[in-house]
Amino acid sequence: MDTDRWWSTWAPLWERIEDRHFGTLTTDSLIGYIKPKVLVVGAGLGLIVRHLAGKNIGAVGLDINPEMVRMAKEKYGVDIIEGDAGELPFTDKSFNTVIISSGVVDYGADGARIISFVDEASRVCSDGGAVLAAFYKLPRKIERIYRRIGVIDKKSIYHMDRIFTIDVVSAKNPLLCVPYIRKWTGKFFIRILFEWMWIGMTLHISGLIAERDWMRDNISYAESIGIRREDLVACVPDALPYRARSDIQKLFEGIRVEYSEIIEFEDCTVVVIET
Ligand SMILES: C[S@@+](CC[C@H](N)C(=O)[O-])C[C@H]1O[C@@H](n2cnc3c(N)ncnc32)[C@H](O)[C@@H]1O
Repeated sequence: MDTDRWWSTWAPLWERIEDRHFGTLTTDSLIGYIKPKVLVVGAGLGLIVRHLAGKNIGAVGLDINPEMVRMAKEKYGVDIIEGDAGELPFTDKSFNTVIISSGVVDYGADGARIISFVDEASRVCSDGGAVLAAFYKLPRKIERIYRRIGVIDKKSIYHMDRIFTIDVVSAKNPLLCVPYIRKWTGKFFIRILFEWMWIGMTLHISGLIAERDWMRDNISYAESIGIRREDLVACVPDALPYRARSDIQKLFEGIRVEYSEIIEFEDCTVVVIET
């Protein structure tokens, strides 16, 4: 999956999306771990860098995507360094805290690449500092529905593109979604029908309507600035690992990286590695 295309295409509307999955609230909750000077890896448009600067905490941002780097400068005047989390352009022990935002370690299915991100973050972090690595998380009720309809499959792979399929198809007739769900889950027709009706009845309670309207609003905004819906949808990740706390524990045990804590928030899980 070419996630770089996703970041580049979505960069012009990222300021509407970025305050999730390790946003400003999570930063504030973790403030006890955050000592200047801070490096934010996967800084995007620089939301966390700017948020920390507002608290007089000096932070440097780094991002692999040139479009994000360009837009951070154009929209906010923030200088983000273009670079890769797996090969940080800094000398050893240059920072006291390294935040690895969501969209970096958590998007990786490849253990070797994940190790290189964590190793590099630990290398540039001073003794007594901390690396905070974020893993995106969906609200529990929405996650449960996504698992039922196969947006998150049995192997815990998150097919974000399927959300857009459901959105388009259900706008014509919700029942037309059933064959898709059948293909994605392999469940019996009757069971899908029953579950789908139940989901339809609890849409507001689950928060799914709010989530859908938020995404539709983002897409309308994108169209208003000349980005086509089909271009946005075509590059949405079709297979991301979705990791619960236990999966993250297993992942770190598997790659033999020691951590001191795993902290769960509403929209992300953060692994704390003390250096
Ligand atoms: C979800 S966005 C994070 C934005 C974040 N909320 C912020 O404002 O600080 C994830 C970012 O990680 C970047 N990224 C992904 N893989 C990376 C890598 N290997 N090295 C550096 N940046 C990376 C993407 O380009 C994207 O801009």
